[in-house]
Amino acid sequence: MGRMLEPLELADALEAVWQAKVLQGKKVLITAGPTFEAIDPVRGITNASSGKLGYAVAQAALDAGAEVVLVSGPTCLTAPSRAKTIQVVSAQEMFDAVERDVAGCDIFIGVAAVADYRVANASVQKIKKDGSSLTLELTQNPDILASVASHPDAPFCVGFAAESENLYENAEAKRRRKRLPLLAANLAQQAIGSDENELVLFDDDGAHPLPRALKNIVARQLIDHIARLVSPRLK
Ligand code: C5P
Repeated sequence: MGRMLEPLELADALEAVWQAKVLQGKKVLITAGPTFEAIDPVRGITNASSGKLGYAVAQAALDAGAEVVLVSGPTCLTAPSRAKTIQVVSAQEMFDAVERDVAGCDIFIGVAAVADYRVANASVQKIKKDGSSLTLELTQNPDILASVASHPDAPFCVGFAAESENLYENAEAKRRRKRLPLLAANLAQQAIGSDENELVLFDDDGAHPLPRALKNIVARQLIDHIARLVSPRLK
């Protein structure tokens, strides 16, 4: 009372006013950004991901009327004000946060670029250079999406794939391997760090290329597609 909303919150609220509420009453859990796996207190392994698309998907789901939980790796972005946001660093922390919040979710969207491996024995102290080479032993991280998809009462699971070549073959193969009803794929070199993206959606009906557009527009189209699959009467 008596204080104007922050301008960005005001813009968010206005944006939401004219969106069709296609996910009204749905709870959506989204992972976004990269994960960071420590090598020692100052070094680590990470993936190239700005988090922009994941945050845009979270905003689009909110605008579509959903309750949104956003589990985010380290990014420079401001979280959508109406989402419950959980900040994490490593893949294991992202896995734990997702497992804690997944109960009762209708839709899970794994946009995060999760590091496939972590360092087996991260050093407590900074590793000193001694002029010779350094070998790191890597252990595989849990596959968050595959774990959620294998729950007995799994939500509708959406995967992402960033490919560097043969987009259609690789993406459809990944969708089948992970047994996902929907997978969104792009060419990594066209998307990373950019404000725009060009997605192809793969579902049981085949491939649906979306036109290249700003990530928030692409995110809205993805949410509309998910809503049509989750509630077929919206078709
Ligand atoms: O197999 P790949 O890592 O390319 O699959 C990408 C999809 O799987 C993305 O949706 C990503 O968020 C998810 N993923 C995950 N946990 C991992 C690796 C990938 O949730 N450890």
